[in-house]
Amino acid sequence: MSIGGFVLAVRLIPVAARYLLRRNMFGYDINKKGTPQGAIKVPESLGIVIGIVYLLIAILFQHFNFTADSNWLVEYNAALASICFMILLGFVDDVLDIPWRVKLVLPSFAALPLLMAYAGHTTIIIPKPLIQYTGVAILDLGWIYKLYMGMLAVFCTNAINIHAGINGLEVGQTVVISAAILIHNVMQIGASSDPEYKQAHAFSIYLVMPLLTTSLGLLSYNWYPSTVFVGDTYTYFAGMAMAVVGILGHFSETLLLFFLPQVLNFLYSCPQLFKIIPCPRHRLPRFDPQTGLLTGTKDGTLVNLFLRLFGRCSEKALCIRLLIFQALACLACFGLRYMLAGWYK
Ligand code: UD1
Ligand code: MG
Repeated sequence: MSIGGFVLAVRLIPVAARYLLRRNMFGYDINKKGTPQGAIKVPESLGIVIGIVYLLIAILFQHFNFTADSNWLVEYNAALASICFMILLGFVDDVLDIPWRVKLVLPSFAALPLLMAYAGHTTIIIPKPLIQYTGVAILDLGWIYKLYMGMLAVFCTNAINIHAGINGLEVGQTVVISAAILIHNVMQIGASSDPEYKQAHAFSIYLVMPLLTTSLGLLSYNWYPSTVFVGDTYTYFAGMAMAVVGILGHFSETLLLFFLPQVLNFLYSCPQLFKIIPCPRHRLPRFDPQTGLLTGTKDGTLVNLFLRLFGRCSEKALCIRLLIFQALACLACFGLRYMLAGWYK
């Protein structure tokens, strides 16, 4: 079904792109300003296609996996409601261009269906070396755990959205992270004999597999030079899908380790996000139409930092460098988990 989703996405994107252009939903490619390509209207918000195809697959999938003891369907459908709500709010943002402060909190509304239906545990396991300080091995956080879930959703969505602005980066990072999640799930299912634990990771696979394949379909159009933009519909949708998967699969700490570049980008962005220093509408590098190279600006983003650290380069090379960094972060996370495994046994 996920492969079918890939094919459907690849077929539908050009059609939807025409309709979106007709409705004046487009953006100019800022990193091509000054060249003929910079004057082309690039259709925006193609994330709406991916979101719809994804939901279709995830909804139909229940039919084939339904058994009499399908308790997991309550949380599964709550997860889908949250993802669907997020797609709606992301699309609203693309159409209405909502102010930044309001935009920041939209994901907390979208997370509500999941938080309200969540009946799973609200406990955390204390690592062995820390038990002497807490006195207990398992700590019940109660409502604080739900607050944490909500904050995770807000973080994941916005973190993806602000690590963006060069062709292929929004979708590329999602592809790398969701591939890492998938590998993690398969490894955990193989390593465990606890049926509940296996179920949580199987659950995660159901939701992350269609995300990976539909995103690959989108990437084929969004890769340099982009013929479509993904819009905040996509960044919010992808962030929410991964947050939901991390919450219901009970591996949100691992998820945050996969998000290392996004965490760094967020921390580096904080002075501008909280208006300590001015924040322009776009915090992108400077493009030189003569050489076709990008130069880092003072704006606090990982994109600019990479250009300053590793020198000027083309937009495509920059995207590849950032995605390699993302993959390295995921690899390091697998290594770290392996080293710390003894902490929880
Ligand atoms: C976030 C970032 C902003 C960045 C923007 C780029 C913060 C606080 N906000 O804003 O700094 O400039 O994302 O997505 O960090 N675009 C390109 N090339 C691309 C992708 C997008 O030129 O590869 C431009 C297009 O004009 C497109 C626009 O960015 O129309 C989309 O921006 P939007 O997603 O609305 O920006 P924000 O998410 O608000
Ligand atoms: Mg955006």
